[in-house]
Amino acid sequence: MREGRVKHLFSASIRTASRISYSLFRNGCLANKDAFHFPSSCSIYKSISNFSSSSPPHDDADREVKTSRSYMAGLHSHYGPGKLIGKTALITGAGSGIGRHTAFLFAQEGASIVVADSSISAIARAADAVKEFGGRCVGICGDVSVPEDVEAMVAKAEKTYGSLHILFNNAGVLDKLDHDAIDTPTDVIDRTLAINFKGTLYGCKYGIPAIKRAGGGSVINVSSMVALVGSSSPRVAYTASKGAILSLTRELAVFHAREGIRVNALCPGPLRTNLLMQHLKSEEKIQRLLKFIPMGRFGETEEVAKAALFLASSDSSFMTGASLVIDGGITSSFDSPP
Ligand SMILES: NC(=O)c1ccc[n+]([C@@H]2O[C@H](COP(=O)([O-])OP(=O)(O)OC[C@H]3O[C@@H](n4cnc5c(N)ncnc54)[C@H](O)[C@@H]3O)[C@@H](O)[C@H]2O)c1
Repeated sequence: MREGRVKHLFSASIRTASRISYSLFRNGCLANKDAFHFPSSCSIYKSISNFSSSSPPHDDADREVKTSRSYMAGLHSHYGPGKLIGKTALITGAGSGIGRHTAFLFAQEGASIVVADSSISAIARAADAVKEFGGRCVGICGDVSVPEDVEAMVAKAEKTYGSLHILFNNAGVLDKLDHDAIDTPTDVIDRTLAINFKGTLYGCKYGIPAIKRAGGGSVINVSSMVALVGSSSPRVAYTASKGAILSLTRELAVFHAREGIRVNALCPGPLRTNLLMQHLKSEEKIQRLLKFIPMGRFGETEEVAKAALFLASSDSSFMTGASLVIDGGITSSFDSPP
């Protein structure tokens, strides 16, 4: 009888929490202005329309709603102590996709979160949604290709929560004009390397000293499967930037190995996110790509977020300099099942 009542209250609380989360995402909640900081580079960055920094399209927002509901359920059914209790994490590119889901998951595991992004509206929605279901989170708007902005993101983490233990260098772009070496415009090459590679390096430049001050921690850099294998659909600037992230990760991992700082990389394969779907555009291209994925589907952002949690937590305590591949089997395959 008593057990039945507890079960009833438990499912009612999940339903209520899910409804709150759903309406938050639906209505695109406004930011708590006190929690935000907007460096001047934000407005400049927003004018660069070629890059995938805009708010999610409607169907993607719908998908995020459903996903947030499953995260809510996960939060309420989590009994053990969180894997990241007492830790502070800075997540760049947290306004959408992988970064946004990682913010939810890390908050669920007890971390205090600083979400950073160049899109003011996206970061406001992400920070409010995490806070609304009980996570500790502040947002900061900034461009990772601007060193001062990255320095401000790290400072925000230390000022707000006292220290920084986890740095998730996730912000990245894939330009629609990125193609082969001959045709890719030079400004696309410069900007892609500036955001994807230099943004990651700046994160390490300012984040690693902070992690050192905190007594150690984990850096997770987001590379890609394309850093490991070639493709007949080239995006040379993107691919080169992701390859550079892997080299950077290995070098820093070795250099900081005896300081309690681990540095690892994630290599996701094709995911069902804005970044990739906007790039593929046509159904024909989507179907062509699916044929090369042994598992026969795109990955989901939460599957990458779970890998990020593994690298952020002590579950991966003997791993550093690694490239963790999450690609549905692509890089291990010669062909796909019929
Ligand atoms: N989607 C995929 O299939 C895939 C595959 C492999 C790797 N990745 C990598 O994963 C990371 C996240 O990608 P996603 O798929 O979640 O993409 P996404 O476009 O959904 O999210 C990227 C976020 O980064 C932000 N951003 C862009 N430029 C920025 C800048 N200069 N400063 C701060 N924030 C900036 C955007 O506003 C956006 O919120 C990227 O590094 C991407 O290259 C994605």
